[in-house]
Amino acid sequence: MPATLPRLSVGETVRVAVGVLAPMLAQGVIIRRPGVVSLADSLDTNRHACRILGDLRERYGAGPVLLRLPVRELAVVLDPDDVATLLDGSPRPFTPANREKVTALRHFEPMGVLISGEERRALRRPWNEDVLDHRESLHRLHDHIVAVVAEELEGLLPSDAPVLTWDRFTPVFWRIVRRVVLGDAARDDEAITDLMVALRAQANWAFLRPRSTRRLRELGRRLRTYVADADPQSIAGVVARTPGVPGTAELGQIPQWLFAFDAAGIATYRALALLTGHPAAMAEVRQEDLPTHRGLRPLARATVLESLRLWPTTLTILRDGVEETHWSGGTAAPGTGFAIISTFFHRDRSRLPWADEFEPAIWDDGRAEISRALVPFSAGPAQCPGRTLVLDVTSELLAGIVSQFDVAAAPPVRIRSERAMPRTLAHNRLRFHLARRAAG
Ligand code: HEM
Repeated sequence: MPATLPRLSVGETVRVAVGVLAPMLAQGVIIRRPGVVSLADSLDTNRHACRILGDLRERYGAGPVLLRLPVRELAVVLDPDDVATLLDGSPRPFTPANREKVTALRHFEPMGVLISGEERRALRRPWNEDVLDHRESLHRLHDHIVAVVAEELEGLLPSDAPVLTWDRFTPVFWRIVRRVVLGDAARDDEAITDLMVALRAQANWAFLRPRSTRRLRELGRRLRTYVADADPQSIAGVVARTPGVPGTAELGQIPQWLFAFDAAGIATYRALALLTGHPAAMAEVRQEDLPTHRGLRPLARATVLESLRLWPTTLTILRDGVEETHWSGGTAAPGTGFAIISTFFHRDRSRLPWADEFEPAIWDDGRAEISRALVPFSAGPAQCPGRTLVLDVTSELLAGIVSQFDVAAAPPVRIRSERAMPRTLAHNRLRFHLARRAAG
C-alpha cells in the first residue's frame, strides 16, 4: 500500500493552527471583523504564517502535509505545482464544494455554484460564465459601468472633509455595485447590502450558528423583484435575458456576486494605497490611452491584481479530494481537505525575486502566469468567473479616483516605494487626503 502523506507532529500542528489558521478565522473568512483586521496588521500575522509554512517546506519538502487533527484529515499545500494540480483538478478529483466552505456559505447562498455538487455545478458554472462574460476582456455593460463610476465618484469628497476613510469609501463603492448588479433602482437600497452583511456575519460562525431562513427568504424576495422588473443596463437585466436550463437556480447565484464584490472594494482601496506610494505609476494610470488598449486600462488593472497578490482577499482556497489522490510525498484518502494559503505562495521569496515589491508588469509579461501559484482569482475550471467584471469595475474606479483627485496617503499607514510592501495590511486603517484636480 502506498504511504499516506506525511503527518505533522502535535507541536507543528499547534504552530500551524495558532500561527496560520487562527488569525485567518479570527479576521473573519466570510466578512472581516475590523478590530481583528487591525490587530492582525499590528502583529503582522501574514509574516508569521509565511515563516511557519516555509519551515515546514524546508523540513518536509514539497508536501502536502497533514495536520494532526482529531476531527478531520486536512492537508496544507506547500508546493506551487501542487496548487496547480488542485486547481486544475476541480471539480474532480478535487471539489470546490469543500466541507468547511459548504457549512459557511450555505447561510447565504445554498444554491451557489461554488458549493454545488458536480451535477449541478455542470449546469450553474456555464451560466455564471455567460452572464458575467468570463471569457471576454471587458463586460458587455462596460460603457454603463464607466458612466456609473464617473457619476458616483463625486460622493468620495463631500465639501466638509477632505480625508477619505474606509467608512467613507464603502457607501460609494456599494452604490456603484448595486447599480451595476441590480440596476439604478437599487442605488440606495442599503437594506439589501445590510441583509447580506447580516447573513455573512452568521456564515462567519459557520456550523456554530443556525441558518436564518427568514433573512434568506427576504433576500430571495428582493432579488426576485430586481430581476422581474430588471433594469436592462444591469447584471440583473442580463440575468432576465439569459434563462438557464432547469436546475440552474439563476437567482440563487446572485448572493455570491454581492458577497464577492466586498473583496473588490478592499482590493481597490489597497490599490489606491499602492499608487500613492508609487507616483510614477499613478501618473501613468491617469494617462492610459484607452483607444490603443480597446477600452482596457492595463496598468490600473495590473495595480488591482498586485493589490490582490500582495494582500489576497481570499485568504485560503479550499478543496476536498473526492477520491484517493497521489502526491510526491504520499497518498491522500478520499475526503481529505486541502488548504492553499494564498499569501504563502504570493510572497514566496525563495521563488519570486519581486515577491515583496509592487511589480505590476508581471501581469502583462507572463511572469504571473508562469509561476502558477499566483491565484488571487483561483485558477482552472473553478476560477472566479467574476474576474472580468471585477477588473472592469475596479480599474475604472481606481483610474477615476486618481484622475479626478490628487491623492496622498495620510497617517497612520503609508506605502513607500523604497520599502518592501508590508505583509499584512489592514485596509480599514488606510486614509487618504483628497483634493480636486484642476480641469485639463
Ligand atoms: C476582488 C474580487 C474577487 C476576488 C479576489 C475573487 C476571487 C475568487 C476566488 C479565489 C474564487 C474561488 C474560490 C474557491 O475556489 O474556493 C472565486 C469564485 C467565484 N467568484 Fe469570485 N472573486 C471576486 C469577485 C467576484 C465577483 C464580483 C463575482 C460576481 C460578480 C464573483 C463570482 C464568483 C463565483 C460565481 C465563484 C464560484 C466559481 C465556481 O465555483 O466555479 N467573484 N472568486
